[in-house]
Amino acid sequence: MLNEIERVLLTEEQLQEKILELGHTISEDYYDKNPLVICVLKGAAPFMSDLIKRVSIHIEMDFMAVSSYGTSTVSSGEVRIIKDLDASVEGRHVLIVEDIIDSGLTLNYLLDLLRRRKAESTKIITLLDKPHHRKVDLKPDYCGFEIPDEFVVGYGLDYAERYRNLPFIGVLKPEVYNR
Ligand code: XMP
Ligand code: MG
Repeated sequence: MLNEIERVLLTEEQLQEKILELGHTISEDYYDKNPLVICVLKGAAPFMSDLIKRVSIHIEMDFMAVSSYGTSTVSSGEVRIIKDLDASVEGRHVLIVEDIIDSGLTLNYLLDLLRRRKAESTKIITLLDKPHHRKVDLKPDYCGFEIPDEFVVGYGLDYAERYRNLPFIGVLKPEVYNR
């Protein structure tokens, strides 16, 4: 697996250092709010897992699975709910945890849905932001790293469901896509 990586974009140390910082910020901003922290499966699972361990206030967790990409590297613009939340968001301070924002279509849809369900507040934390080809006007409230317009894998992010288990973010060798 490691010999399929062309280059490392963000090391495990860089990721963990940033997540520690983000955890502190979330703890301050949500001090008395008992936020509902929602992980967008599957990509955000490693980030969610590490982030909540750096948050020092009471939180609750929930999970949602949506699909927009399938096994391709280009967004279809369609969002389908595969797994919905367990509990109601009505009156809750909701923090959506994402792995990466690209076109913004996925999060735009989720934000709209949670607002229609009467969440008290809705904010986004994303590990990575690729602001270059947004299709909707959307900015994360908290962001780990802005990255160039390249397809990345690792730390939750996949190519055809592989590479999610890498502890760093990297770029694949071109030949991997041509198999
Ligand atoms: P949108 O375009 O809706 O996309 O903001 C968000 C979702 O697209 C996937 N995505 C990627 N997945 N490497 C990946 O493994 C990437 O570089 C990448 N860019 C977008 C991802 O699932 C994200 O939740
Ligand atoms: Mg994905």
